[in-house]
Amino acid sequence: MKRLVVISNRVQQLNQGPGGNQGGLAVALLAALKERGGVWFGWSGSTVPEFTGEIAYEHEGPTTTAVIDLEPQDIDEYYNGFANRTLWPLFHYRVDLTEFERDFEGGYARVNHRFADTVAPLIEEEDLVWVHDYHLVPLGGELRRRGVANRLGFFLHIPWPPTDLLVSLPSHRRLVEALFAYDVVGFQTADWLENFRHYVTTQLDGTVGEDGLVTVGDRTIRAIPAPIGIETAEFEAAAQTQAAAFARDRMYMSATGRSLIVGVDRLDYSKGLPERFAGYERFLAQHPDRRGLVYMLQIAPPSREKVDTYQEIRAALDGLSGRINGEYADIDWTPLRYVNKGYPRPELAGVYRAARVGLVTPLRDGMNLVAKEFVAAQDPRDPGVLILSRFAGAAAQMTDAVLVNPYSADEMSEAILRALTMPREERIRRWESLIDCVRREDVHWWCDLFLDALEDADVAAVA
Ligand code: UDP
Ligand code: G6P
Repeated sequence: MKRLVVISNRVQQLNQGPGGNQGGLAVALLAALKERGGVWFGWSGSTVPEFTGEIAYEHEGPTTTAVIDLEPQDIDEYYNGFANRTLWPLFHYRVDLTEFERDFEGGYARVNHRFADTVAPLIEEEDLVWVHDYHLVPLGGELRRRGVANRLGFFLHIPWPPTDLLVSLPSHRRLVEALFAYDVVGFQTADWLENFRHYVTTQLDGTVGEDGLVTVGDRTIRAIPAPIGIETAEFEAAAQTQAAAFARDRMYMSATGRSLIVGVDRLDYSKGLPERFAGYERFLAQHPDRRGLVYMLQIAPPSREKVDTYQEIRAALDGLSGRINGEYADIDWTPLRYVNKGYPRPELAGVYRAARVGLVTPLRDGMNLVAKEFVAAQDPRDPGVLILSRFAGAAAQMTDAVLVNPYSADEMSEAILRALTMPREERIRRWESLIDCVRREDVHWWCDLFLDALEDADVAAVA
């Protein structure tokens, strides 16, 4: 098996344990690397006054992490700037929240150069190089310019927006053309891939051939859908551990017989939290007989706190949660528990298992691993019900969830009632179909799917 070099902005450091709010990318890559081994290169999460390119290594089993510190200006312009004030909102269809600043683009280019300068010497001739996510689109081209002739793959963890939205980015052409330095480019769903193809054919005069081949000028790449999964077997086992049982029992005890509706999300405007709270509030308003019999727990660890849109969503949610509790709480009942803290995944497994309903309602999401983890944690004899947004990438695979439009408070209220009153046979039937997919298309399946395509890449390029 060829050695794997994985490159992403965020790296799950090996000595940090199961972590609290690292997000789906780090969770999945850690799982993929645990199986295959290899080198994982990225940002340390820390800054130094002046960039040195010094690499800090850590080893565990067959996996090595190699991380570098960046300068404060890099973080402002590249991470908080172009990545999270420009690309993240734009790719989640939020042109209204997107900032277009030339300085951000300068920082984005500079950090991609810095990554390339530092990682290129670590790459050996036979390595498969796999770059991840929107922070590092130009990295492939930078590596090529430094003589890296290896097979290069790129995987986008977030949605790819419709062409009409993408063209609002002044440098859209440069960004998309940069993807043609790779051999294989992967998307979470066929819909995002379709948006990419549409852009390439309408804006770059490209052509789409058989078997995923996409050509622009003299470059042909393979563009494939490859939905990311979770470490299902390990997560199912985690749901049986003492940590999970302890968390579950804590939930049962504090629930005092009430049904738990749970949500777990980074505190991000793409996750649709105000809309979710509004849906729950509508449910409480429409069903007075259910008040006191249910409660909602929303776990939402803060994320990207330097970016104002994240500060604004946090302030909005503080207000909304206070208002809902002020309106509906009773001396012995709090309808909404809203927690701004991250939990390790074994504990989350226990929380999911204690829940009657999992509420996963992003306005737009590349995939959403929480939806898959919720299913993997359920008791097969008495499973909870997953309510899932139609606009999450996961909805393409998880068609037996109760699918909702997260913008509609009425639809959400109906879905909550339906989930709470769903007969056990129907819950079991839906869960069996969902777990079947979550088990079959797990993180190892995803990794093999992408890397097989990458290993075959030269065949594709010649075709
Ligand atoms: N997560 C966690 N602790 C928390 C909240 C989230 O470990 O308190 C994990 C969660 O279990 C999942 C990941 O972070 O594995 C979130 O991935 P997802 O794809 O749902 O969303 P993202 O944050 O990547 O947008
Ligand atoms: C999403 C992105 C990842 C990112 C994660 C957490 O999953 O696709 O690239 O790592 O969110 O966000 P953060 O900004 O903390 O890395």
